[in-house]
Amino acid sequence: MGSEDDRLRKPSQQSTTMRTKLKILLLIVSTNIISIYLFSGAVLNINWPENAPRIHLWDNERLLRELNLTRYKLSHAQSSLSDLESKCSTSNALLESLLTELGRVHGDKAVSDELNGWPDELFGELKLAAGPHKLPLGFTSNIGSDELYPTMGMGCRNFQPEVIEYMTYEPGQECPSDDVFAQRLMLKGCEPLPRRRCKPKSPKNYVEPDAVPASLWKIPPDSSIIWDPYTCKNYTCLVNRGKAKGSYDCKDCFDLRGREKVRWLIENGKLDFSIDNVLKSKPAGTIRIGLDIGGGTGSFAARMRERNITIVTSSMNFDGPFNNFIASRGLVPLHISIAHRLPFVDGVLDIVHSMHVLSNWIPDTMFEFALYDIYRVLRPGGLFWLDHFFCLGNQLNSTYVPVFDKIGFKKVRWHAGRKLDRGIEKNEWYISALLEKPMY
Ligand SMILES: *[C@@H]1O[C@H](CO)[C@@H](O)[C@H](O)[C@H]1NC(C)=O
Ligand SMILES: *[C@@H]1O[C@H](CO)[C@@H](O)[C@H](O)[C@H]1NC(C)=O
Ligand SMILES: *[C@@H]1O[C@H](CO)[C@@H](O)[C@H](O)[C@H]1NC(C)=O
Ligand SMILES: *[C@@H]1O[C@H](CO)[C@@H](O)[C@H](O)[C@H]1NC(C)=O
Repeated sequence: MGSEDDRLRKPSQQSTTMRTKLKILLLIVSTNIISIYLFSGAVLNINWPENAPRIHLWDNERLLRELNLTRYKLSHAQSSLSDLESKCSTSNALLESLLTELGRVHGDKAVSDELNGWPDELFGELKLAAGPHKLPLGFTSNIGSDELYPTMGMGCRNFQPEVIEYMTYEPGQECPSDDVFAQRLMLKGCEPLPRRRCKPKSPKNYVEPDAVPASLWKIPPDSSIIWDPYTCKNYTCLVNRGKAKGSYDCKDCFDLRGREKVRWLIENGKLDFSIDNVLKSKPAGTIRIGLDIGGGTGSFAARMRERNITIVTSSMNFDGPFNNFIASRGLVPLHISIAHRLPFVDGVLDIVHSMHVLSNWIPDTMFEFALYDIYRVLRPGGLFWLDHFFCLGNQLNSTYVPVFDKIGFKKVRWHAGRKLDRGIEKNEWYISALLEKPMY
């Protein structure tokens, strides 16, 4: 996976080539020094005797002496040479470690700046998707720059091999069918995803959708989507999944005649608030637009639509076409994760609702990010309906209540209740709360 530090330590391709070039240069320099050394005769002055070529075969003793002397000088030269060699290799090693050190202190940082935080150099479609791209008309004050970076999740850099795989496609042609892989990459932090230039596979025999309001509570035709990414291959299977074995996200959400049909209609004075009672806490008609975070198949938005309130629903396609289903109902799906900054400007939404998705699986810091972000996008007097927030008893007062208090919401309603379906000894709790962003 690789942290920022790991990536900085990893020698990049470019610094390696740079170092190789330097080494070759050093090798050439040292070889030349040796040659100059050898031929200048500084140490290896063998000093052939003047009469060396004129060997008098009869002068045996002299010949032997000269031979002895030559052998001696030769061995001396040999030892000098090996001495020099070892000195050279020592200095070579020293230089190499010096270069590595220099690279660490200096070079690698520059290289990683060049690669914009990617472990390796970018090519092709991914390089284009990463940008930057020069603005054809030059600097503009709206942007404060003369170039643009297409939006891409910073987390993509932590998964370069997967991102390369994801970005391997023919621009203009049909996209690879890899929704599950893509969504997982996105949920790991590569959000938004960088793929921009292919066409998703189109379902065969697509028919125009039903009209609102009939579409709100109707199961769409099987031919409206591509089923490749899902275990179920038709809506009948998804609708019946609630009663089937196995654990699935939002298991009974596709069954619009089941539990989904009565959600938020009945007030039980405890964890279940009704939409109408929540709306009554504000002057009539002042709740008009909002967001449902992790809204499954969009039934909350459907119920709000029936009250002329426009709700955008964020949802994930966890082994089911949740987003497509929401859209088929005539509602707006938003494919963003809980890690994503909410795509709204400050202070505009009348209501934010969230059921189940916000809970103790989220890292504390990110949970706080999410809550502050909800506070940010709500208008003054806007409502945050936290619906069935799950945590353990010991976390309730120690971790979560202080966070809610810290953000600055006003508590309109608050109910903490035990979740008993897995036994009281589990000490599992739900909080349902209606929180208001203060007017001032
Ligand atoms: C050869 O030279 C070595 C050292 O210079 C000397 O010890 C040896 O006696 C010499 N041998 C002959 C045969 O001259
Ligand atoms: C729906 O899919 C299931 C398997 O997932 C299959 O058994 C069933 O026959 C399908 N039903 C229809 C109406 O296509
Ligand atoms: C919603 O708006 C329509 C058209 O403006 C209106 O006829 C209807 O009564 C409204 N419904 C509610 C529940 O306010
Ligand atoms: C949390 O604190 C409240 C008020 O101080 C208390 O009534 C409640 O019992 C506590 N809940 C748990 C689960 O400890």
